[in-house]
Amino acid sequence: MAISTIRVSEVLAALSLTTDLATGMPFEKGLATCLVATALADEIGLDSADCRVVFHAALLGAVGCTSHATENAAIFGDDIAFETAFKALDFGDAEVFGAQMAQFGSWAGPEKQPKMVADFLRLAPTTGAVAARSVCEVSKALGPRLGLPEGSVTALSEVYERWDGLGIPDHEHGDEISLPARILHVAEQAVQAHGARGRGAAVSELQRRSGGHLDPDLVSAFVKGADTVFGRLDSPDLLAAVVAAEPGLPAVVVPSERDRLCLALAIVVDLKGRFLLGHSAHVAGLSDRAGELSGMSADDRARLRAAALLHDIGRAAVSSSVWDRPGPLGAGDWERVRLHAYWTDRILRRCPGLADLADIASGHHERLDGSGYHRGCRGRDLSAAAKLLAAADVFAALTEDRPYRPAHSPGAAASIIAEEVAGGRLDRDACAAVVEAAGLRPPRRQWPNDLTDREVDVLRLAARGMSNRKIAGELVVSERTVGHHLAHIYDKIGRRTRAGAAVFAMEHGLLPG
Ligand SMILES: [Fe+2]
Ligand SMILES: [Fe+2]
Repeated sequence: MAISTIRVSEVLAALSLTTDLATGMPFEKGLATCLVATALADEIGLDSADCRVVFHAALLGAVGCTSHATENAAIFGDDIAFETAFKALDFGDAEVFGAQMAQFGSWAGPEKQPKMVADFLRLAPTTGAVAARSVCEVSKALGPRLGLPEGSVTALSEVYERWDGLGIPDHEHGDEISLPARILHVAEQAVQAHGARGRGAAVSELQRRSGGHLDPDLVSAFVKGADTVFGRLDSPDLLAAVVAAEPGLPAVVVPSERDRLCLALAIVVDLKGRFLLGHSAHVAGLSDRAGELSGMSADDRARLRAAALLHDIGRAAVSSSVWDRPGPLGAGDWERVRLHAYWTDRILRRCPGLADLADIASGHHERLDGSGYHRGCRGRDLSAAAKLLAAADVFAALTEDRPYRPAHSPGAAASIIAEEVAGGRLDRDACAAVVEAAGLRPPRRQWPNDLTDREVDVLRLAARGMSNRKIAGELVVSERTVGHHLAHIYDKIGRRTRAGAAVFAMEHGLLPG
């Protein structure tokens, strides 16, 4: 089935659904926030261009949520549970904050919970600000790729600011915070409370936060128009309602341009694991070359490339502590890992502009003999594109470092996938094309932004969050030299956080190295 054009808002909706999973929010919470925020913008009389800014900021309010996922998982055990708890905190109300702290960290069990609270209170002033700056850098880096208006990108840098100045990272106060961000803050709290406790409770929660967390004038406007604003959520299909609510002229792309947008989703998801950085683009590059070698048409290759970029978006639903773990997984974790393919399928099928990618993308762990997941289907049920993607995914993963093993050489990876072919699990022709495609990878000599070979080595390791000392050990140089390299790198690429550097490295194909 050929698709003539694709609504960009549908691709952004897929990203919104992905960030729902990464923040432990109910599925479609971002869509609801977008509808409520846009309705509030209408209520206060913003023009179409300003409504468009609010629309995009609210739809992607959590786009930077994975920028600090690996660090949060390392400190708090589960980055998703942490995000959920953090989003509900109200620093401005001592009584409420005390009650929230009494529950904070409960995901870790009663023995570890007190330490979670102590770590949070100790680290919040320093690490919290770094995390918020990472969110800003990731939003700024991805905004242009996603075609977001400048005002939306600014608002996405202010998601953790508060009306009373107690927010992070810049402690902006009152209307120093942009209006779209203040609308987003109100809409987020309204949707969260509405989903959990209904309309009346949502209004009460907004009024309680008014003048503290939230702009009091916006809360008043919201309360006055509550029936109209909440009425937007009565739609039986929130995604269709979001697409219909896009203010101004709808943005569209042709299918062959989808991968420009899809790379942003891939980057957001690859930030979930220190060893996953660049994995999705790696798989997409291999799949594309293998598709060319297999004689695929240009349209089929474009579809395969986009599916490959999105194949692991369901990883967002699994804690970074699982993806970063050096030891074996427990049964519960393994079950969650198997579900990532299901979530990929569910997100893509939900968005009409991406639904044609769902079978290919979500079939990447299926095996010809039915031993794969998440459906356990057999070879006859898998398309040629799905078989190619499965082979490319295995080959790419084998040649990348993982927390539990170093990267295999391309030769060793080829031997391993030959065993999979012999065992009747992977397709022979698909694997042959992937191995041949891997041999064609051109050596890189020209690095972006005038980076030197050594600086690229340092950047790759820094992107994974390695300390200067560890990088020095890895590259057999002094810590001071690493410090000099990093200063030059950050100047050249214009980023200041690990997440920002990681996004730069992924956007320019420097990862995996
Ligand atoms: Fe996967
Ligand atoms: Fe993968």
